[in-house]
Amino acid sequence: MTHRLFLTLAAIGLGLGWTATARAGDDFIAPVSDPLTLRECGECHMAFAPGFLPARSWRAMMAGLANHFGQDASLAQGDRAAITATLEAGAADAPGGRRGLAAEFLSWVDPAGTPLRLTLNPAFLHEHRRVTPERLSARGVRSITACPACHRNAERGWFDDD
Ligand code: HEC
Ligand code: HEC
Repeated sequence: MTHRLFLTLAAIGLGLGWTATARAGDDFIAPVSDPLTLRECGECHMAFAPGFLPARSWRAMMAGLANHFGQDASLAQGDRAAITATLEAGAADAPGGRRGLAAEFLSWVDPAGTPLRLTLNPAFLHEHRRVTPERLSARGVRSITACPACHRNAERGWFDDD
């Protein structure tokens, strides 16, 4: 009986240990690796991982590059099509997506909505609730979109520090 209880506790312990390891994946999101996307979408800010948004968001964004958050980010037709395909393939809801951080962010996206800002996702807002304008300027940046100012491995897809 005692022996059995021990085995049960050991099994629960292993289960908890495994859960902790699996959760480490919650700090990772597959980064952009396509050179064209890195170049064209990493010019004004870091190239955001496609897994932060669903495919319909990337399609909408790529259809409106002439007025991209107040800037002209237009591209030649061929480049635009290629980058759209890259972003859609890595989107949170793409086949093989729905993992780690991408799954967490997607779980907050209204199925009827098409968000363009990952920084307005409730998971993001919650994680950054303590980031004040003072904290941004202490890092030498004005916008929370400058992820690498605080997450030094952001461009490699890791957000496990601050
Ligand atoms: C000419 C400069 C420029 C280029 C090129 C550019 N962007 Fe942006 N982008 C901006 C600006 C400005 C913002 C708003 C930043 C802010 O609010 O701090 C923005 C914001 C974004 C956001 C929303 C960030 C948030 O708040 O969640 C996404 C996503 C984004 N861009 C994706 C892209 C993609 C994809 C490309 C390549 C097709 C691209 N950008 C190219 C200037 C640019
Ligand atoms: C001014 C600094 C700052 C900037 C800029 C910033 N973050 Fe953060 N981020 C933080 C802090 C602080 C936390 C909370 C860390 C904690 O609680 O351990 C955090 C947490 C996170 C987490 C949760 C990590 C975890 O351990 O669960 C993610 C994901 C994240 N940030 C992504 C981003 C992305 C994507 C951007 C850019 C769009 C960004 N951050 C920009 C400071 C920043």
